[in-house]
Amino acid sequence: MAGSVTRSEGAALRLEGTGTELEEVEIRLLLDGIRLCYGYDFREYALSPLRRAVMTAMTQEKVRTVSAFQDRILHDAACMQRFLGVVGVNVTTMFRDPELVHTLRDEVIPLLRTYPSSRIWIAGCATGEEVYSLAVLLQEEGLLTRSTIYATDLNEDMLAVARLGSYPLDRVRRYDESYQASGGRGSLADHYSVAGRSARFHSALQHSIVFSRHNLVTDGSFNDFHLIVCANVLIYFRSSLQERAHRLFYDSLIRGGYLALGKRESLLYCPDRDHYQQVREGVNLFRKMRW
Ligand SMILES: C[S@@+](CC[C@H](N)C(=O)[O-])C[C@H]1O[C@@H](n2cnc3c(N)ncnc32)[C@H](O)[C@@H]1O
Repeated sequence: MAGSVTRSEGAALRLEGTGTELEEVEIRLLLDGIRLCYGYDFREYALSPLRRAVMTAMTQEKVRTVSAFQDRILHDAACMQRFLGVVGVNVTTMFRDPELVHTLRDEVIPLLRTYPSSRIWIAGCATGEEVYSLAVLLQEEGLLTRSTIYATDLNEDMLAVARLGSYPLDRVRRYDESYQASGGRGSLADHYSVAGRSARFHSALQHSIVFSRHNLVTDGSFNDFHLIVCANVLIYFRSSLQERAHRLFYDSLIRGGYLALGKRESLLYCPDRDHYQQVREGVNLFRKMRW
């Protein structure tokens, strides 16, 4: 029909009606553009947190439509970098799950003692607070010097903060309670020096940590590990992407190795879940029992 514009058969069902459906199409186009331009693939991230992140980023960037945001992000790498901070939700704390850390102390440390050296992978480490928590634990158990912690994240900006190991002092002081609840052997203050309003973790802790970029969507396994910690990352992934990440973790663990997840995460989408054993009821720590 000359002069009239119609939508394709398949798309019509989705596009007609609410602006929300159209917005979903715009978000999908945005994600395609980001992948083609920068190589970051968010297409399998859960839609509602993703939509919230896009809205937050649009407010930050002062643009009113997803299409305008797409134009900005594709032409401005700094905008892309800022978006990573929003989409990855970088909220983190030290000793975030004290019961999990306590269980690591009770159940995993004895296993690590039996090896001459051990490798630990913390995937999605954000600004590093969780990494220093584990380094403190290993040091108190006398295992730090024979351990290597590989701490990875998608976002270079967060890794840069993590490498410094320096955080606002008032915030670090508030972590002492969770440190004690996780079975800390002294005071958290034993592990950092105060400089002005900052707490800087001792360089002895940093010597055993390797920070590097790794994307759970696209990158593969890079070692075999005695312990993998991936907390509060899988919640942002759809089932297919959770499955990919779980496969990667399973393939990267030694037999008898441990996988620690966040409180709201599970093995639901893990194809090898029958090969894991939960170490303690109510704690998301699992031991790989078979190859
Ligand atoms: C909420 S933080 C969790 C930080 C820490 N693990 C914790 O539990 O406190 C989520 C982190 O996952 C990272 N992330 C998101 N997608 C990722 C991906 N595809 N690969 C690696 N890291 C990713 C984000 O950059 C962010 O630092």
